Amino acid sequence: MKRRQFLKNASLTGVGLSVGTTLLNCAENTSKSKEASVASASTKATLPLVIATWHVENATAKAMEVLQAGGNTLDAVEQGCRIEEANENGQSVGKGGLPDRDGNVTLDACIMDQHGNCGSVVYLQNIKHAVSVARKVMEDTPHVMLAGEGAKQFAISKGFQPEDLLTEASKTAWKKWKVEAQYKPIINIENHDTIGMLAIDKNGDISGACTTSGLAYKLGGRVGDSPIIGSGLFVDNEIGAAVATGLGEEVVKTVGSFLVVELMRQGKSPQEACEEAIRRIVNKPNSDYKNFQVGYIAINKKGETGSYAIHQWFSMTKFQGGVNAQIQSDYFNKA
Ligand code: GLY
Repeated sequence: MKRRQFLKNASLTGVGLSVGTTLLNCAENTSKSKEASVASASTKATLPLVIATWHVENATAKAMEVLQAGGNTLDAVEQGCRIEEANENGQSVGKGGLPDRDGNVTLDACIMDQHGNCGSVVYLQNIKHAVSVARKVMEDTPHVMLAGEGAKQFAISKGFQPEDLLTEASKTAWKKWKVEAQYKPIINIENHDTIGMLAIDKNGDISGACTTSGLAYKLGGRVGDSPIIGSGLFVDNEIGAAVATGLGEEVVKTVGSFLVVELMRQGKSPQEACEEAIRRIVNKPNSDYKNFQVGYIAINKKGETGSYAIHQWFSMTKFQGGVNAQIQSDYFNKA
C-alpha cells in the first residue's frame, strides 16, 4: 500500500493506533508554529516525551512504556524502533523492507545517547533489528560504525538470528518494479520513510535512534543518511536532538541533523531549526526538491518539539502527557 494511502487509511480506521491517539493536522492550520505551540504549551510540565517520524503510534507507545517503567531514553528509542523493524507491513524498515534493485534487503541504522556515545550499522543483511546491532556496536566495540558482512557476523556473534527479510509482499513489489526497472535515484513522498525516534526523560536527558531499509530499488551498495551520525541523527544533550527522513543523499549534503541541533544552539526553536534546515536544501541553486522528500523532527532541552518537510504528507508521532498523537507536519512546497 502506498504511504499516502496508508496514512489516509490508518487515520480513518485507527489501524495500528494505540488507545488515546489523536490526530493534529498542523499543515492545514494557518500558523506554521501551530505544532510548536501545541508542543510548548504542554511540554513544560509534561516530561517524559517521545517523538518519531511518520505514523508509528505503536512504536512511540512502546518507548513511553519503557520510560514509565523506569528505563532510560536509550532503552526507549531502541525498543520503540524495534516495533517498526518487526512490523512486516512497513516496507521501509527492518523485515519487509523493500529491497535494492537486485532484490537484496539492506538495512542502515544508528543510535546515540545522552553522553554523546553512538553506534551504527551500514548495509546490514538478514538481521532485522538493525537498531539493536547499532547499540551493540556502540556498547561492545571501540568503533562507531560496522558495515556489510562484518556487521552481520558481529550481530550473529552477539546472538542475533539471521533470517530472510524479503517478505512476499516486498518481493511482489520488487518484481513489479523490475518489469520496467526504471532507475530513478529520487524519492517521492510515498515510497520511503525512515523511522527516527527521539526521547527525553523527566530529567531532560535525550537519546535518539533511526532505522531504515533505505531507498527502494537503490543501487546495490548504496547507503543513505540514516547510519551517518550528524546526518540521519544527532543528539547533543546540552541542546537537543534531531532526526531525518527522506532522500538521504540530500540530508548528507547538508549534514542535516547536526545542522538542526546547531541552529537550536544558536537560539532557534526546534520548529524554526527544522524549517531552516529544509530551506538549506530547497534554496540550493538548481535544487530538484520538487522530486524528492526530506523531513526533520527535533526536540530541545525544554521538551519543545518541531517538525517540517519539503512536501505535504509528512507526519510526526508524539507521545506526551498520556496522549499519543499523529501530527501532520507543516511543509515548504505549497505551490
Ligand atoms: N533516509 C534514508 C535513506 O535515504 O536511506
